[in-house]
Amino acid sequence: MKVIAKSWGLPILLLFAASADVRTVLADDVRTNIASRGAFEAKAQYCGYCHGPSGQGYRGYYTMPRLAGQQSEYFVNQLRAFTDGRRGNTFEMKMARVHAVSQAMRLALATRFGKLNPRPFGGAPTEHVALGKKIYEEGVPEANVPACAACHAPDAKGAGTNPRLAGQLYGYTVRGLINWSKDRGQDHAHPDTSAVMLPVANSMSKQQITAVAAYLSTLK
Ligand code: HEC
Ligand code: HEC
Repeated sequence: MKVIAKSWGLPILLLFAASADVRTVLADDVRTNIASRGAFEAKAQYCGYCHGPSGQGYRGYYTMPRLAGQQSEYFVNQLRAFTDGRRGNTFEMKMARVHAVSQAMRLALATRFGKLNPRPFGGAPTEHVALGKKIYEEGVPEANVPACAACHAPDAKGAGTNPRLAGQLYGYTVRGLINWSKDRGQDHAHPDTSAVMLPVANSMSKQQITAVAAYLSTLK
């Protein structure tokens, strides 16, 4: 918590205001392979301080991704990637530290957050949503950008190692696509699932990225 205390004072205070809600949301299913229910609930609440009590994400000084409804396989993969130093090294916050949990805890948290379904956060610019939808469904053939729907599913809910993108926060999606080659797959001796997205992210213009991110942020 010391890590967050420094630069995350305001969001944390705001989220504390919603902590009764956190307990209700987090009161159900717990996997039996976690040391104790209390430890699991405490960890899930901790994740919620940054990612929102219902995993809806957080839009502030630094946009936090939505975790709600995320595919468990992808979710678990990303937690490992942070811990292994393959992802998130460029952030001032210590991604490896805040995301370090056991494999059993990763699975339990993935299940918990995967079941949540808050409304999309909203707030993205709306003028290029139609273009974003077209890119999502058809790609940009002249720039060798494939249809996103082919891997992320027509409803953008993802499957397996292909993440859900529906309802993801605009600022996070834009940042992720722009920084892909600096931020993901950073252990070049051990290529991971991020390699699939590298040519896609690198072939898109800034305008195409913002359009598709705006479209995705509206999807339920
Ligand atoms: C101090 C704030 C903070 C805490 C606490 C935190 N996270 Fe994160 N998390 C982030 C940020 C910031 C990112 C996005 C990094 C980026 O932009 O690539 C992230 C990314 C993720 C991702 C990848 C999302 C995606 O769509 O690729 C997952 C999964 C995740 N966090 C799960 C968790 C879990 C589970 C916990 C609790 C064990 C947790 N986080 C605790 C800040 C936090
Ligand atoms: C060939 C399959 C494929 C196609 C086509 C594809 N993606 Fe992906 N995408 C992936 C995979 C796999 C990942 C997970 C990468 C990882 O594990 O780091 C991913 C991850 C992402 C992420 C990161 C999600 C997060 O939560 O951080 C975004 C954003 C994204 N894709 C957007 C797009 C967009 C926009 C398009 C279309 C222009 C697209 N993708 C096309 C396979 C694909």
